[in-house]
Amino acid sequence: MKVLVVGTGAREHAIADALKDDVELYCYMSKINPGMSKIAEFKQGDEGEVEKVAEFAVDNDIDIAFIGPEAPLGKGIVDELQKNGIKCVGPTQSAARIETDKSFMRKLFEDYEIEGSLVYKVFDNSDDVSAFLDEFDRDVVVKPVGLTGGKGVKIVGDHLKDNEEAKEYSCEVIDNAMGGFAQVIIEERLIGEEFTIQAFCDGEHLAPMPAAQDHPHAFEGDVGAITGGMGSYSDVGGLLPFLSQKDYDAAVEIMQTTLKAIAEEAEPYKGILYGQFMLTADGPKLIEYNARFGDPEAMNVLPLLKTPLADVCQAVVDGTLDNVEFEDKASVCKYIVPDGYPETEYAGELIEVDEKAIEEMGAKVFYAAVSQEDDGIHLSGSRALGIVASGESIEEAEKVAEKACEFVKGNVYHRRDVGTQELVNKRVEHMKEILN
Ligand code: GLY
Repeated sequence: MKVLVVGTGAREHAIADALKDDVELYCYMSKINPGMSKIAEFKQGDEGEVEKVAEFAVDNDIDIAFIGPEAPLGKGIVDELQKNGIKCVGPTQSAARIETDKSFMRKLFEDYEIEGSLVYKVFDNSDDVSAFLDEFDRDVVVKPVGLTGGKGVKIVGDHLKDNEEAKEYSCEVIDNAMGGFAQVIIEERLIGEEFTIQAFCDGEHLAPMPAAQDHPHAFEGDVGAITGGMGSYSDVGGLLPFLSQKDYDAAVEIMQTTLKAIAEEAEPYKGILYGQFMLTADGPKLIEYNARFGDPEAMNVLPLLKTPLADVCQAVVDGTLDNVEFEDKASVCKYIVPDGYPETEYAGELIEVDEKAIEEMGAKVFYAAVSQEDDGIHLSGSRALGIVASGESIEEAEKVAEKACEFVKGNVYHRRDVGTQELVNKRVEHMKEILN
């Protein structure tokens, strides 16, 4: 079977790595990923030029295309590939609205009375935003309706001082049609612990993966700018130290109900559904959906897959998805990023990655926003590579991942605290306080 992975980052490297032993692997990527280029036939090109991706797929007799990032999904890459007879792991443009149109997503929760929703309103003018916020006496989150590459969401208490700043930012979102819509969504700010559940979906059935927790803040101790994610962990048993089976099952049920609703309102959803939840005193609430694997969370779960990913992809496209098995292990992923990140002052610099030493430690490297050039691996302004280890406990996995980070040299840093006992305990204590 020939499988094409579309995308260039660590998430796509993890997908490609999980497929490489069982398929003829092809990749379409905007930058030359140093890991993917070693294991696949590849073409360098803009993943958003969907006709060109389809042409490459047809020319190479691709059986299944696996779409990594959200932007091409929003541009209808799956519709284009399907038109050309290529089956896809990834939703059509209409079904991908679960991520690309947040007002569609929230309305689905309302219309289908899906559990786990929250107080929200969609506005298209700033006077109505002001009137609402003058009445609403709790902190809010301001979200553009469309895709903004993870940079549009602002939270009162984090990026915004108070609801007055929320009004100003809302105005900016509407006036600039940020994310492609002259609208803004205001949501209540939830208090709790965030967690991620990712699931394979075949249009009707859903196979959930182990839960994971990402760390969006740039610096240790959960301070600094909100980033795409500085690292993540998962635990044995598929749960998290603060997440019970009951809450995990409730979150999966929300995703299953959503899957049914998407099929009715849009089209059957085939691909990866990523649910970002907040565990609150009232149970799990849905913060947002993504129509693709999480980054870094893909790196936690894919190396633990026991069912070959190639078989899962076949089942997704055939609509025969059943149980998907994972090794019962914990995992820790640490993202190595350029010094100064999220600023970009070290973009272009060379780094050294001793892949052999990392592998000998029992860890894995997944390359992200770097490019392979003749003289070596160059940083871009964004996250450079994920180092992932698994083990019998989070503690064991963390120790290996941390040690393996020493084998990356250059102007880079990472969060040493991701997956440490101290930080995990802090999460558990926080959740206990909320529940008491
Ligand atoms: N970890 C956040 C994301 O993938 O969007």
